[in-house]
Amino acid sequence: MTLSTQQDSFWDEIVKQTQAKNTTSDKQPFFSLAPMEAVTDTIFRRVVAQAGPPDVYYTEFTNASSMVHPKAKFSVQGRLAVAENEAQPVAQIWGSRPEDIAGAAKILPTMGYRAVDINMGCPDATVIKNGAGSDLIRHDNLAEKIISAAKTSGLPVSVKTRLGFYHAEEFRDWLPIILRQNVAVLTVHLRSRKEMSKAPAHVEYIDEILAMRDKLAPKTLIQINGDIKTRAEGLALAKIHPGIDGIMIGRGIFENPYAFEKIPRQHTLEESIALLKRQLDLFDDVNANVTPKHFEALKRYFKIYLRGFAHASSLRQLLMETHSTTEVRQILTRELARVYEAVASDQHIYRDNAAAIADMAMATAEKHQSAADHKNNS
Ligand SMILES: Cc1cc2nc3c(=O)[nH]c(=O)nc-3n(C[C@H](O)[C@H](O)[C@H](O)COP(=O)(O)O)c2cc1C
Repeated sequence: MTLSTQQDSFWDEIVKQTQAKNTTSDKQPFFSLAPMEAVTDTIFRRVVAQAGPPDVYYTEFTNASSMVHPKAKFSVQGRLAVAENEAQPVAQIWGSRPEDIAGAAKILPTMGYRAVDINMGCPDATVIKNGAGSDLIRHDNLAEKIISAAKTSGLPVSVKTRLGFYHAEEFRDWLPIILRQNVAVLTVHLRSRKEMSKAPAHVEYIDEILAMRDKLAPKTLIQINGDIKTRAEGLALAKIHPGIDGIMIGRGIFENPYAFEKIPRQHTLEESIALLKRQLDLFDDVNANVTPKHFEALKRYFKIYLRGFAHASSLRQLLMETHSTTEVRQILTRELARVYEAVASDQHIYRDNAAAIADMAMATAEKHQSAADHKNNS
């Protein structure tokens, strides 16, 4: 296999598979689950796959210097763990030393990885102090060296970055530098570092970014990220800007674990509880057999599954007091019968409050109508 075939194959396959599944006449972007520290590990990726799989997954970002350090390398292995039965994610790494990036990227294929992504957007102060993440926007020579270093692995190299460090408009100078490196994919989080996640994503710059790509690096895929909550929202954006190749969704998954599903529908409480139980089972398995996991970190996920139905918050509160997956299961066994009964008797077993309220309003109207009919007939 030549280097160039290997470099292109992973993303070519993603694009081809996405188009093969496309039943519409519009070009379909691929959808990815964003890399999220302490979230997108092998456990959560598999839960999302069950709820509604994206086309691409990313790992949490992993420190390249730790990967190549003889003593630290074991501490980061858990982040890169991939289960046999899960889709191979893209490994996201971060760092500011080209030699460490090269070393880390070379380890990845030995672990089964087929693509590497470089983080050039992290706004975190400790990452910036290390000269990495979004700090590379201010040090473009180093950014170029880092990309070249990653390419020595033979893996396709992609970059995820922001529009600028201080100002969004810096993208006019910054993105051409990355595009000239002919990366496989350029993912743009449509905000500056200074804007963190607070300002609305700058969708107004998408066309300009796509035009830059067409001119400077027509083969580079452009993936857009920021404030896109669901597949439907991503498709709507890609319809307006047909040059978009990929859509990345991050926090949307916290509001809706079914964010990637192709035909959106309402989900029952039972389905959400099944996802929570799957997460508990996978947590126990990974904790026992792959890498130690902190139970406390599991609590941040409860809200994803336990929202939008009667008693959700009281059930969540009970679970927040737990100290083990066994305790969580015990509470679910104890409380769920009561919750299901209350929810079912109201006939609103949906996650979606609006649907539940509409159902209840209809039930009340029917009750009033039948009472009125009864009165008229008697
Ligand atoms: C909890 C959390 C952890 C994150 N960790 C990473 C990370 O490890 N690497 C990265 O490139 N971006 C990380 N991000 C940023 C997301 O990948 C994404 O760019 C950002 O959330 C904007 O997209 P969204 O509006 O769809 O959430 C993280 C975001 C969140 C909320």
